[in-house]
Amino acid sequence: MAQHESTYVPKSATARWWDERLPLMRLLHDSFVDYPTPRNLNYLWTFGGILSFCLVAQILTGIVLAMHYQPSAAEAFNSVEHIRRNVNYGWMIRNFHAVGASMFFIAVYIHIFRGLYYGSYKAPREILWILGVLIFLVMMATAFMGYALPWGQMSFWGVTVITNLFSSLDGIFPGLGTAIVEWLWGGYAVTGTTLNRFFSLHYLLPFVIAGLVVLHVWALHVAGQNNPTGLDIKTKSDSVPMHPYATSKDLLWMFIFLIMFAWFVFFLPDYLGHADNYIEANPLVTPPHIVPEWYFLPFYAILRAIPDKLGGVIAMFAAIAILVFIPWLDTSRVRSTKYRPIYKWFFWLFAFSCLALGYLGSKPAEGVYVFWARIFTFYYFAHFLLVMPIVGILETPKKLPRSITDAVLGGKGDGSGGAAKPKGAAAAPESR
Ligand code: HEM
Repeated sequence: MAQHESTYVPKSATARWWDERLPLMRLLHDSFVDYPTPRNLNYLWTFGGILSFCLVAQILTGIVLAMHYQPSAAEAFNSVEHIRRNVNYGWMIRNFHAVGASMFFIAVYIHIFRGLYYGSYKAPREILWILGVLIFLVMMATAFMGYALPWGQMSFWGVTVITNLFSSLDGIFPGLGTAIVEWLWGGYAVTGTTLNRFFSLHYLLPFVIAGLVVLHVWALHVAGQNNPTGLDIKTKSDSVPMHPYATSKDLLWMFIFLIMFAWFVFFLPDYLGHADNYIEANPLVTPPHIVPEWYFLPFYAILRAIPDKLGGVIAMFAAIAILVFIPWLDTSRVRSTKYRPIYKWFFWLFAFSCLALGYLGSKPAEGVYVFWARIFTFYYFAHFLLVMPIVGILETPKKLPRSITDAVLGGKGDGSGGAAKPKGAAAAPESR
């Protein structure tokens, strides 16, 4: 995995024996212990590790829940109550899993916005980024199917509304949309059959995510980590070994993140969910206001902002698909927004638009809410399709530090690992 020279030295005869046959410890050592990381990483770089923790925690708690859960329309709702009331520590494991989904999305949104701010998607990290977008997509599918499993009112109606969206394809290919919807449902309505297949896929997809994460981290180790300056590691003094420098930062933030996580698990387990999901699914009673989980709200707002159903579905999927293309839509010479005086404003406008869309997605699709959802949906796409290409060309970036070391030492470093800096040495304008 690692591209640098291996420094692993087996410490015993057994370790040597293993190393000659399956150099697993060497791979782990070179990838996660001695791996050169930029010396200026800030705490936003700890979220990849936090996400890995979230994924493992979701899989482990999910496996225990699956031992007691019943994926049938008649039993699902009560089996979740049984887990909460009768299974030893079931309430805690269930809360951990349900709150964990929200924590996973908090972490992934911070991770994505960190990447967007520091231009981590730019060459040579395009594949790393695209793998991230794929992970995000599969995460959303997993969370959507997971939310169906308690078979509450929101589960049922959420599945009904969202799966029905595919029927809009009938507008272009008559019959195809309906066929897809019936195929997803396993019949002519959302029933226990739908629930059962959602359960099966909800169990499977986290392992697909795990596979994608391996590729993601592999691609990261080939390209190397980006950092707040966006400059590449040029000399030895620009980097530090991953352990203990980056790992201790990761652990500190993982701990802080866990405190917040635990706060929700123990004190506010239902805060991020919806009260209607404690009413058993009833196909004959539609809740007055159907809303998805908070992490889908910006996309839900985009869906409803477009007056036409098919157009809304296309816009919603396009809002995710467009992320794949940003390594090529961003024409800037520098990676980090820190050195982009004009783009910086647009970045924060984009972040604000996403928050605003999230808020608007939670409101009824009427009046002023729809008006603003349209404005922010327009900006969402304009940001990628107009701002990124145009500002990248027109803007003159601020002067970049000569090296990562210089950025850390405020110009006192020479980026040469301690050698004296020759007077008037040429500045390095390159960021890539
Ligand atoms: C299960 C979800 C994910 C896991 C476990 C994960 C894991 C990681 C890890 C361990 C790192 C290195 C540490 C760090 O930079 O924070 C990383 C970096 C990165 N990830 Fe992810 N990631 C996930 C999702 C995503 C998503 C959804 C995206 C983007 C759409 C993404 C884009 C990136 C990029 C661009 C980097 C390189 C960052 C840099 O060096 O500046 N990741 N990821």
